[in-house]
Amino acid sequence: MLGNFTYCNPTRLHFGDDALEHLAEELKLYGENVLLTYGGGSIKKSGLYDDVMQILQDCGKHVTELPGVMPNPTVEKLYEGCKLAREQKIDLILAVGGGSVCDYAKALSVSAYCEEDPWEKYYLRMEDVDNAIIPVGCILTMVGTGSEMNGGAVITNHDTKQKIGHVFGENVFPKFSILNPVYTFTLPKYQMVAGFYDILNHITEQYFSGTDDCTSDYVMEGLMRSLIHSARIAVKNPEDYEARSNIMWIATWALNTMVAKGKTTDWMVHMIGQSVGAYTDATHGMTLSAVSMAYYRHIMPYGLAKFKRFAIQVWDIDPTGKTDEEIASAGLNAMEAWMREIGLVMRIGELGVTEDMLEGIADGSFIMTGGYKVLTHEEIVEILKESM
Ligand code: NZQ
Ligand code: ZN
Repeated sequence: MLGNFTYCNPTRLHFGDDALEHLAEELKLYGENVLLTYGGGSIKKSGLYDDVMQILQDCGKHVTELPGVMPNPTVEKLYEGCKLAREQKIDLILAVGGGSVCDYAKALSVSAYCEEDPWEKYYLRMEDVDNAIIPVGCILTMVGTGSEMNGGAVITNHDTKQKIGHVFGENVFPKFSILNPVYTFTLPKYQMVAGFYDILNHITEQYFSGTDDCTSDYVMEGLMRSLIHSARIAVKNPEDYEARSNIMWIATWALNTMVAKGKTTDWMVHMIGQSVGAYTDATHGMTLSAVSMAYYRHIMPYGLAKFKRFAIQVWDIDPTGKTDEEIASAGLNAMEAWMREIGLVMRIGELGVTEDMLEGIADGSFIMTGGYKVLTHEEIVEILKESM
């Protein structure tokens, strides 16, 4: 039975190859001081930086730049932004980049006027925001995280080896996001496919929970089928607009909170993957792919009916003459074959994880309770060993 919920998603999206034309109308809604934040330079290489700057100038904005947001943004970078945003009395943070830049902008939006250490308040104590929030707008260049239409903001603390995501409320969602699939064409293949797996895993983290008949599961099966199909096309031809635009839209739906409604949700692959990320600074999607097969094979017996359904509905496994276990296993085998086909990292050893890190990574993995099996510390270590 579908549980009770309240649903609202306040982010306005502009989607398509002319989406940037809507930036000027969005900018009119905010004051003149804009903080333009971006990553390590991909937007300068692609020319998007020049296009955005031109629009900002035409709209009469006073622009403060905050470049250098790294993949897996750090707490030190957050402190740097807080100081700048306060000094410049920023009215709007405009994030141009991937999930890291969008997440960073949201973390900054709630931290700039936070009267205590935002890392402690939001990431260690997971408290709600009770200070002024600077509005955020996003121009997305990398597809995967769903950050463009959610309240998530993941920050890494290398000193304490913690990578933690705070899922903020509606007041922190981007006010608007500009989604032009063409901007994603320049992504290196490694980043592109890491993003594809991030999307699939966001869906499976929600799909593999609950035993009731839930509409969200049907929606997710459709999203997964479309992703599997389009990813194969995009890997062969990264400039296939049809495939890239479908994938961009799937990514948004996978994590804009809609399909989570009525679900308890799992998120254990993300918890383990994030802890791997804290130790290695590896690409987010690859930290997920590298632990996934060991994790899903481990929990399959506890959610057998759902894994069987996944095999048949998502991977077209023919159930004739097979036991439930055989059907479910065939589904996971098909998923693994697809992961290898598109070029994902399948082993944490390849990401720089060494045996001596495993206990620490397991310690840093928050244990979630919404999936088919609440893992023990020992089970996480076992999964990590199998993923080596
Ligand atoms: O920094 P630049 O030069 O822009 O290069 C980036 C970066 O090196 C590059 N890139 C992005 N767009 C490009 C491009 N290169 C060429 N052409 C383009 N169009 O790609 C690299 C990776 O970018 P990044 O933003 O780090 O990737 P992603 O979008 O996967 O974001 C990862 C971060 O998001 C968090 C992750 O933990 C990680 O910190 N997540 C956020 C979530 C959320 N908000 O809900 C949920 C996710 O599960 C995830 O945890
Ligand atoms: Zn993710």
